[in-house]
Amino acid sequence: MPDLPEHPREATNSPMSNGSPTVDDRLMLGSRILDLADNLAHWSESTGALTCTFFSDAHRAVARQLRDWFAAAGLASEIDPIGNVVGRMPGARPGARTLILGSHYDTVRNAGKYDGRFGILCALVVLESLRGTRLPFAVELIGFSEEEGVRFATPYLGSRAIVGRLDAAMMNVRDRSGHRLGDVIAAAGHDPSQLPSVARKPEEVIAYLEVHIEQGPVLLNDNVPVGIVTAIAGGVRYALAIEGEAGHAGTVPMDARHDALLAAAEIALLVERRARLEPGLLGTVGRFEVPEGAINVIPRRCEVSLDVRAQDDDVLTRALADILAESQAIAGRRGVRLSGRELLRKKAVPCAPHLQQLFAASIEKANIPVKRLASGAGHDAATFDGFTDIGMLFVRCGNGGISHSPLETVTAEDAGIAAQILRDTLVRMGTWVEPRTSS
Ligand code: GLV
Ligand code: MN
Ligand code: MN
Repeated sequence: MPDLPEHPREATNSPMSNGSPTVDDRLMLGSRILDLADNLAHWSESTGALTCTFFSDAHRAVARQLRDWFAAAGLASEIDPIGNVVGRMPGARPGARTLILGSHYDTVRNAGKYDGRFGILCALVVLESLRGTRLPFAVELIGFSEEEGVRFATPYLGSRAIVGRLDAAMMNVRDRSGHRLGDVIAAAGHDPSQLPSVARKPEEVIAYLEVHIEQGPVLLNDNVPVGIVTAIAGGVRYALAIEGEAGHAGTVPMDARHDALLAAAEIALLVERRARLEPGLLGTVGRFEVPEGAINVIPRRCEVSLDVRAQDDDVLTRALADILAESQAIAGRRGVRLSGRELLRKKAVPCAPHLQQLFAASIEKANIPVKRLASGAGHDAATFDGFTDIGMLFVRCGNGGISHSPLETVTAEDAGIAAQILRDTLVRMGTWVEPRTSS
């Protein structure tokens, strides 16, 4: 691993300690965030690309690195039984409630360096710059182990454990190689029976804040470096399986075939057609698999993923019903059998107006136009719905806003601005959060 860049150790010496950062201060913080992200990207489970899925060797190495960086920044740090990396900064008084800052460190396959990790590293750099300061509340920085749902097709494992919504039945979910989640956790040296102890108590939490790259083009097109998230879109995910009939590619006439892949292809086109009917509705078939596929065999089985999202829950519900009904009709016409398993259903989640306001005040103070936007992507923040108030800040991406791709980019300047806004927001929160007397 390359050495880490030099970084400020004490709040008195750190950028922005007098509340009025210079452009150089910001650039220093932003460059540091990007350097740390470059460092983390060295660990990957695929050659020539960044892939870091739940409890792979690369994933566990990233967790250890984050734990060490958290400790070096003065946080009491540990890796919990679901692989979350937790760093804790105590409040000014014992019994103070906790502000949780977080995002995820797992990635999709062939990922960019900033999805999830940016939020962890931005918060880390901010807490490092606040070292030696005591806020009236405690702060926990959590690098969530799993948000993408790549390995177990069920996302948010890390944040669900924190809010106490990872039930024991989940331990029986299997990955595509047949490994049980509970066994994977045990093989990594953790005790799955300890998972309930990871859950925080909502009455001890003030709020959850997450900084994340926008993963879209809105801020780029509007020429603003950061934006306040108003709500996180709801979504459903399904695993669909189509069973047809195998046959010889050279002998079965075209009108006598029950080709599972062609039914799946028609379903994928239906998803696109239906999603295009309404603004704000998005439908994606991201995975097609023909388990026994061969060049000279008519596909017997095809497995397909389905992801449908909308900012309006009614729009989502109607679209899903249409897609499932029309998919059954396609299967009927083609003489194949369609089955489906729901993997995830999440309602749209609003961000707390008072936290939006808090971000807005910090953004105005930095002389940046206040831009509000909804998130089409899912985030760990959505898991905190009903548990505590949620606030999210987006940072502009370059390259047309592309994400879930190695082409993801963020500038050091924008990264520094995000750090500045987060830091100012934490300090501002300290002026209105009542410390809780110990109970
Ligand atoms: C997470 O990246 C999601 O929105 O799927
Ligand atoms: Mn993400
Ligand atoms: Mn993602």
